[in-house]
Amino acid sequence: MATKKPIRVAVTGAAGQIGYSLIFPIAAGDVFGKDQPVILQLLELPIALTGLKGVEMELRDCGHALLVDVISTDDERTAFKDADAIFLVGSKPRVAGMERGDLLKDNGRIFIGQGKAIDEVAAETCKVLVVGNPCNTNAFIASQMTKRIPRRNFTAMTRLDQNRALAQLSQKAGVAVTEITDLAVWGNHSPTMYPDFTNAKISGRPLTEVITDTEWLNGAFLKTVQQRGKAIIEARGKSSAASAAWAAIDHMHDWWHGTNGAWVSMAVISDGSYGTPEGLITSFPCTVDANGQYHIVQGVVLDATAQGRVQASIDELLEERAFVAELLTGA
Ligand code: NAD
Ligand code: LMR
Repeated sequence: MATKKPIRVAVTGAAGQIGYSLIFPIAAGDVFGKDQPVILQLLELPIALTGLKGVEMELRDCGHALLVDVISTDDERTAFKDADAIFLVGSKPRVAGMERGDLLKDNGRIFIGQGKAIDEVAAETCKVLVVGNPCNTNAFIASQMTKRIPRRNFTAMTRLDQNRALAQLSQKAGVAVTEITDLAVWGNHSPTMYPDFTNAKISGRPLTEVITDTEWLNGAFLKTVQQRGKAIIEARGKSSAASAAWAAIDHMHDWWHGTNGAWVSMAVISDGSYGTPEGLITSFPCTVDANGQYHIVQGVVLDATAQGRVQASIDELLEERAFVAELLTGA
């Protein structure tokens, strides 16, 4: 059997909580395929390099046949060199009492330098997933730094919000998660996000015909999904990690392999669809074709209430963009 050429996969913040849950499945073939060898290129801050060395030892100790090499470094250009896929996780997480906006200035700076480094050294076709919060605007910042790599290669993660919504809906309807389709998150990965249940289906039927408790859908359901990150921080004392890593795996897996027509939530660069300002990185229902190109699903009908909810999230993204404008000036 012919062996595939190894791909290079960069992960930043690799010694952190999410990093620790993310890199082992990548090495095991859960993201890029059970026949796809990988070289992992792990980036950390200098202060976390000793911890990262320990993680590297554990990775090697798993003896994964697909893991060709591991490069642990605190140098961005070494980490992103020729990378085919990049997970930008490294950044500060929110702690109790903070909103995601509080992270904007601190974390935003990271994505200026990393956006430039990616543009200089990564593969032109690289697929970049930003997980570090506030992930939409961080992805926007990084995408603004590129001259060579197309901006549309930068995406941000709302798949965790989709997975959270699916879990709530499947429990309410008493059906398997796999029975629910056409459920997508719109807008920002923040409490303004809108998990659109009005277009979703359960076993092919409109979801709202199966779940008729509209008070729950418009109330407890939306609130639970929108505030889930905060609830986890309050309960765990730390932000979500395993579920976030799992959502990153889902996002990159589907972007890499295609979705065969199924909708997935991805925060992608807006082409003006649904009146969203061009260039903003916002979540839409997307499909991914067999060539690994994503497409914003067109023709989705949103009623006035849903439109208002999406607009509130877009307005928040515009505020975030205005907030980081100074950071981008002269960067
Ligand atoms: P963590 O603190 O456990 O780990 C972050 C790691 O990043 C640390 O090891 C730190 O040393 C490293 N780091 C910081 N700055 C870096 C830099 N410039 N370059 C390389 N590495 C750097 O945090 P975590 O729990 O793994 O969360 C990481 C990020 O993911 C946070 O911003 C968090 O808010 C975000 N997050 C996003 C989602 C989502 O759905 N989009 C979900 C959960 C968490
Ligand atoms: C989450 O949704 O769990 C993360 O974005 C963490 C947070 O700050 O809410």
